[in-house]
Amino acid sequence: MNKRKILVTSALPYANGNIHLGHLVEYIQTDIWVRFQKMRGHHIYYVCADDTHGTPIMLRAEKEGITPEALIARVHNEHLGDFTGFNIHFDNYYTTHSDETRYFSEDIYNKLKAAGLIAVRSIEQLYDPIRNIFLPDRYVKGECPKCAAKDQYGDSCEVCGAAYAPTELKDPYSSVSGATPVRKSSEHYFVSLSDKRCVDFLRQWACETDHLQPEAANKMREWLGEADDNKLSDWDISRDAPYFGFEIPDAPGKYFYVWLDAPVGYMGSFKNLCVKNNIDFDEFWRKDSDTELYHFIGKDILYFHALFWPAMLENAGYRTPTKIFAHGFLTVNGEKMSKSRGTFISAESYLQQKLNPEWLRYYYAAKLNGSLEDIDLNLDDFVVRVNSDLVGKFVNIASRCAGFISKRFDGSLAAGEQYQVMRTFVDAHFASWRPEVIEKAFEDRDFSTAVRQVMKFADEANEMIHELAPWEIAKDADRSDELQRVCSLGIQLFYLLSCYLKPILPETVKHIETFLNCEPLTWPELKDGQPVSDLLLPAGHTINVYQHLMTRIDPKQVDALVVANKESLTQSGGTHSRTRHAERQQHAIVPIAETISIDDFKKIDLRIAKIVSAEHVEGADKLLKLTLDIGTEQRTVFAGIKSAYDPSQLIGRFTVMVANLAPRKMKFGLSEGMVLAAGGDDAKELYILTPDDGAQAGMRVT
Ligand code: MSP
Ligand code: ZN
Repeated sequence: MNKRKILVTSALPYANGNIHLGHLVEYIQTDIWVRFQKMRGHHIYYVCADDTHGTPIMLRAEKEGITPEALIARVHNEHLGDFTGFNIHFDNYYTTHSDETRYFSEDIYNKLKAAGLIAVRSIEQLYDPIRNIFLPDRYVKGECPKCAAKDQYGDSCEVCGAAYAPTELKDPYSSVSGATPVRKSSEHYFVSLSDKRCVDFLRQWACETDHLQPEAANKMREWLGEADDNKLSDWDISRDAPYFGFEIPDAPGKYFYVWLDAPVGYMGSFKNLCVKNNIDFDEFWRKDSDTELYHFIGKDILYFHALFWPAMLENAGYRTPTKIFAHGFLTVNGEKMSKSRGTFISAESYLQQKLNPEWLRYYYAAKLNGSLEDIDLNLDDFVVRVNSDLVGKFVNIASRCAGFISKRFDGSLAAGEQYQVMRTFVDAHFASWRPEVIEKAFEDRDFSTAVRQVMKFADEANEMIHELAPWEIAKDADRSDELQRVCSLGIQLFYLLSCYLKPILPETVKHIETFLNCEPLTWPELKDGQPVSDLLLPAGHTINVYQHLMTRIDPKQVDALVVANKESLTQSGGTHSRTRHAERQQHAIVPIAETISIDDFKKIDLRIAKIVSAEHVEGADKLLKLTLDIGTEQRTVFAGIKSAYDPSQLIGRFTVMVANLAPRKMKFGLSEGMVLAAGGDDAKELYILTPDDGAQAGMRVT
């Protein structure tokens, strides 16, 4: 067979967030495809990296009181741990904050510049005068210019859906410092995408060839406009200091915008692998390369991958992608993943609840069809489907037949004449079990078709075993040969199904390889006219004692998973990142205070309070104004927690307040109580208390 040389990537996850089940749609999908190609013997490399640059990462590191480098190093380990936990195998998982990525970013920039495709212009943006940073749209909030909803982001309104520029918001404020942003201009660097060379190239590349799926090509036509009506504008690729990223070589104080170096991170990660493993980088990236390059991405980042990226590569003298494979978004129980419903499920929590990662891999595979459609994880269906397909159909075949082979035949499968009889039987009854249809479905990323086909085979195998009823044959000592033959048939069919499912269930199949006592399974190949029985394990092959291969999902495990993710809602960032956070912090231990009597303690009336509103206080740099509902009444409290909390994070949360503290008159108004918070010396290190789920406003804390 002709061996292909293939380089595959998944989008680089941002280094400022946890991996969740939505992300996994992409990484599991890519991993299945790569494993399939590896099984076929192609030379395929799967690289990825963390996307580490940009304002959010800089600000988050600042908030945690660590350097961005320390933040991205920690998240790198977390991400890699999550991926490994789901049996996603990268040939290299790197970082964009690397010499390699810097080198190629500069190289591409310099080549674009030499080609006359870099322009410099002054633009006006919103600027935070307290923090002295330009504010990305998402960091400006204010009143929606269309519907007047408060606290909306600078790019679009979550209430009415309107899209606008951050400068159009009424009463804008910086969500970083609370300050009113000012307009400020500065010089920005642009890639001249509106240049005829880029437009003509993209129109040809994206619309007149099959680099994109049809739906994606349609989107591109929309973005590009008609031939005589170019809709493409130049792309702003610079950001002003302070910024965490790569400084632009000839422009001190200007940094590459994160999306400039992010896709370059694909090259950076691959280069890093090439050096380690002695692979020829240029063979994969030079303009006339005959290797294949595929990018798996979510449909939300199509614009970057189908427009900016090929235009950059083409004009910098590199090859362009062979194809871009975009997929849809994950919904859970038919709705957008939601923190309050507990359906925003982190990869880590799934693993912590001891759910088998291969269940999810299988379920996603059963749903993916290679299109841009969204895919739904219906949690009830998840349980039913995995239990019935994987445990009820697939594993069942082995567990029904293996016992007899071990106990009665010392692990030996049929040999000699019995083997020949079995082969003939297979070709008579299972001639359709050829790899071709499944192979094509895998190649097309239509995993749902592959799974459907394999499960149809599994049904056929089960029906046959049911008909032949080895447990009946076993009762008759004279039918020993027949028993061995029938059970061997079951095991042989199970072996074939395992080959077909291996890309999806790599870990389970590893156990199956041990059970079947065979070399790592490769993809079955049949030439025209060759019978299916040619694919079977050899005559007289011995297997090991069957060990349990997969348990059923207990619906309670899934309920617990949802509860776990609901609990983490109020602790911005989740329970797990809180523990991680706690581990990181070294507290100065404050000595325990003087002993008091229980009566002293009882004097304090502690109540559960619901935060019904939280806002910045004009002129106060430490305080937030909270309105607290304690069941019988509402209280206003000025709390010194501004350094640690964004008001919008607090609304709707429950906390604990001292309800009988004498009211205190402050510069900004009357404070009628106090909320409880834990904290160290650093003002940013402040954690307000939250009761367990179920506590109601007004309940006394004793
Ligand atoms: N950092 C960018 C990608 C840079 S690639 C040069 C980014 N990161 S991300 O962490 O937000 O997303 C990583 C990938 O996961 C993207 O392809 C994105 O589409 C995908 N998904 C994130 N959430 C998703 C769902 N809820 N459902 C399906 N895929 C999703 O974008
Ligand atoms: Zn609105």
